Amino acid sequence: MPAPPIAMLAELTHRCPLSCPYCSNPMELTRKEAELDTETWLATFRQAAALGVLQLHLSGGEPASRPDLVALVAGAREAGLYTNLITSGIGLTDRRLRELDAAGLDHVQLSLQGTDAAMADAIGGYRGGFDRKIKVLGWIAEIGFPLTLNFVMHRRNLRQLPRALEMAIEYGARRIEVATVQFHGWAMANRASLMPTREQAREAGRIVAEARAALRGRLVIDYVPADYHARYPKPCMGGWGSTGLNVAPDGLVLPCHAAQTIPSLEFQSVRHAPLAEIWTEGPAFRAFRGTEWMKEPCSSCERKLVDFGGCRCQAMAIAGDPAAADPVCEKAPAHARLRDLTEDFTSDPDAPLVYRAFPAPARAG
Ligand code: SF4
Ligand code: FES
Repeated sequence: MPAPPIAMLAELTHRCPLSCPYCSNPMELTRKEAELDTETWLATFRQAAALGVLQLHLSGGEPASRPDLVALVAGAREAGLYTNLITSGIGLTDRRLRELDAAGLDHVQLSLQGTDAAMADAIGGYRGGFDRKIKVLGWIAEIGFPLTLNFVMHRRNLRQLPRALEMAIEYGARRIEVATVQFHGWAMANRASLMPTREQAREAGRIVAEARAALRGRLVIDYVPADYHARYPKPCMGGWGSTGLNVAPDGLVLPCHAAQTIPSLEFQSVRHAPLAEIWTEGPAFRAFRGTEWMKEPCSSCERKLVDFGGCRCQAMAIAGDPAAADPVCEKAPAHARLRDLTEDFTSDPDAPLVYRAFPAPARAG
């Protein structure tokens, strides 16, 4: 029997007023009509708590696009879950934030697309978004929500990292997540325009190290480095099927947000099966749980319980085999390919952005 998951990411909706080109949502976005209704989400939260989940991350898309967000938070708290709202801030008003506070919301994680309106609005594809976000940050501070800022960093905005750190202090954040863009979902279509150069990746690491020393005790800095420039991969999801699970807007339960890019996997929905059964017995969760599935070089590697072979979705995307070593790893057979791709993707400073969008209705069917 696997240990219970610690955290569940509930992707309440794929709807979002922003259209960030690095969005981790799948290229085929789920439409509003296919989203789980309030009752099904609440039942899923109760099942998650019974299974042992402690933290619920309410995400999207933009979770504030759900009119029932307050009821969902209240229900999750009633089930005993710690609730974290992952939001761009767009769609939140002072009144709605106060309602969320009254419903018991524990924490807010707010994303920054840039540290000024020119950058943030250009990346988010939403004019006026930055000014709105600054207002929301003021309301969050007034109410006193514990706050994490999330700064997704890439080739175009990486120079703004020092200012993002200052903003975290100014707005009373306890934590900032400095996350170099990870190439899944829409970000895959934007590798040529977003991938940091090797020099940028190095500079980001230096700035983070200095800031961690200077801000110790005042601000926690979580750092996700640019993995295409790393020697070893990240332990994606803390190991497949070991600590967390995602529920997509339509109820499919996924071992990670990009798992649907692995064609051999079969997913189940909370509409048709109990969450506990999906977690323990579901074929998608069993596929890469533990170390049995590993091939060489992972199966005999001393790091296999450190990084669990890296990211299955990245192995699929670059090596064409979800059981291969993550090509980020310098021992991986596909590592040379990743190096070539990295060079290609950092060679054109003018590569255009592909903004996240729902497909045209005619194509969506
Ligand atoms: Fe990780 Fe596999 Fe590389 Fe070892 S060989 S470091 S387990 S990806
Ligand atoms: Fe799927 Fe890394 S995103 S395992």
